[in-house]
Amino acid sequence: METTTSASFPHTRLRRTRASTWSRAMVRENNLTPADMIWPLFISEGSDVQEPIDSLPGVSRWSVDLIVERAKEARDLGIPCVALFPNTPNGKRSDDGQEALNPDNLMCRATKAVKDALGDDIGILTDVALDPYTSHGQDGLLNDKGYVENDRTLEILTKQALNQAHAGADIIAPSDMMDGRVGAIRSVLELANHHDVQIMAYAAKYASAFYGPFRDAVGSGGLLKGDKKTYQMDPANSDEAMREIALDIAEGADSVMVKPGLAYLDIIHRTKAEFNVPIFAYQVSGEYALIKAGAAAGVGDHDALMMETLTAFKRAGCSGMLTYFAADAARLLNG
Ligand code: PBG
Repeated sequence: METTTSASFPHTRLRRTRASTWSRAMVRENNLTPADMIWPLFISEGSDVQEPIDSLPGVSRWSVDLIVERAKEARDLGIPCVALFPNTPNGKRSDDGQEALNPDNLMCRATKAVKDALGDDIGILTDVALDPYTSHGQDGLLNDKGYVENDRTLEILTKQALNQAHAGADIIAPSDMMDGRVGAIRSVLELANHHDVQIMAYAAKYASAFYGPFRDAVGSGGLLKGDKKTYQMDPANSDEAMREIALDIAEGADSVMVKPGLAYLDIIHRTKAEFNVPIFAYQVSGEYALIKAGAAAGVGDHDALMMETLTAFKRAGCSGMLTYFAADAARLLNG
């Protein structure tokens, strides 16, 4: 009998494996789990404070004591890591962002509190960039023309990273897009014996219009004049993202991030094909807010929209994603 290696209809019917729930589960190529999620959390001053963020429905800033509760919730849901972002009061912001180096700043207090309560039960990722601490909302130090100066900024970023590592951060995540920051931060961490503190590089971070609600959340939105195009990447570029990623890996990054997420799935896919490192997507604030607004406007079912976008990141090649949906998605996955 002749065997055929390229059956066509009707011998081949791709609907056969789709016809029932059990079969779809059996052939599913990518499965989301709570362990894929990193949950970004915003910290505010005070105690027992929850401040809902208008532009991010369902997301709040929490005082340090309640951040600890959120971290416990994450652990109980099977979320392996939380990402912390401070809302620094205007009185503590300055042109040079010195509050970033204060061992007792909001970020460090929250990091210590979570580590004291949970130890190694959960990872803590801390963002390195000056925008939550500057009075101008830019990620680095400005010269007299308002240009963000790379090398002077590197000096303070390395100190900021060290400050976070001393407080107990497990993953340092430079989001500033200065040249040379990963290598500079790795060097100071090694010198300070923080050999096991990881670096997740915001390697391909684009100058995106999707960051608006985040800037409200950390209180830098109203302060920022202009844009971040002299350091964040041009959304038109893909080859350049590969150069950024290659450099960050060469400088000692343990994992890389692509940000934003959904509009950059091609970058994730290309990174997966070209490099052997864990890749994370940041489903940023504007993406989250769009889905919330779409669901509220009746565009589609909230949970279905959420799960479809998160699955897309896995399919594109991600090990996981930073997402404001983390707890909701984990709850859904846990049934
Ligand atoms: C700070 C930083 C930003 C985000 C993460 N870290 C904002 C920016 O670059 O302006 C955005 C995250 C989000 O929109 O959810 N450098």
